[in-house]
Amino acid sequence: MSTAKSLKEKKVTTHVLQEMKSRGEKISMLTSYDFSMARIVDAAGIDVILVGDSASNVMAGHETTLPITLDQMIYHASSVVRAVSRCLVVVDLPFGAYQGNSKEALTSSIRIMKESGGHAVKMEGGEEIIESVERILSAGIPVMGHLGLTPQSIYKFGTYAVRAKVEAEAEKLMEDAIALEEAGCFAIVLEKIPFELAKKVAERVHIPVIGIGAGNGVDGQVLVIHDMLGINNEFSPRFLRRYNDLYSGIKHSVEQYITDVKSTDFPNEKEQY
Ligand code: KIV
Repeated sequence: MSTAKSLKEKKVTTHVLQEMKSRGEKISMLTSYDFSMARIVDAAGIDVILVGDSASNVMAGHETTLPITLDQMIYHASSVVRAVSRCLVVVDLPFGAYQGNSKEALTSSIRIMKESGGHAVKMEGGEEIIESVERILSAGIPVMGHLGLTPQSIYKFGTYAVRAKVEAEAEKLMEDAIALEEAGCFAIVLEKIPFELAKKVAERVHIPVIGIGAGNGVDGQVLVIHDMLGINNEFSPRFLRRYNDLYSGIKHSVEQYITDVKSTDFPNEKEQY
């Protein structure tokens, strides 16, 4: 077996991600929420799939991530886990499943691990979730943190604008990142913050820092797959690079199918028994 092949087939663990940061190799992460998409994403060689609560937006059509339930997250995550053979699967703890207290956070995390087979959980927040992070970790469940723009708090922020532009908020974010590392998080997502601050955080903490709208000075990148594939064509923030225009591609194919059915072109003789 060639080195390249064995490297590609080596299962990604939290330990592997730590090694990647140590040698300066960037970490690739994308969201997925269903079996068919996750199968393709894993086969392409992604390091981490995030079963994000963005499923609330892109799969269910809600305006925010708040409505998605723990049961729905477990359904999405178990579909993804069945599809992958190499990447690490991280599952978002949804709004309302961990904010109550650390016992609730642990109970929700155990349900995710037991019922979906996911490999780790992600939760939003800094110092206010430290007790929960420690409790979840004490049960042997790896935790990824999430700072900066935290969509579960959208009604507190009131806007999806760039976070931590002012000194006080930037200092607080740095303190939260250090607290999450000290509590034992294996990685942190930084969403929509100035790239210089994100770079400083990635240099200051020893665990991998994965950015979305946080520039190139971090240890890896994450995007929502529906955005980067252009399935969702109504969301165009500056940080998003579109790798396809599947909205147009799929729409065109469906239009062609309709035309073929209406004109009796489909099915033809070779397409019937
Ligand atoms: O839910 C999600 O997709 C996320 C990413 C934006 C990081 O949390």
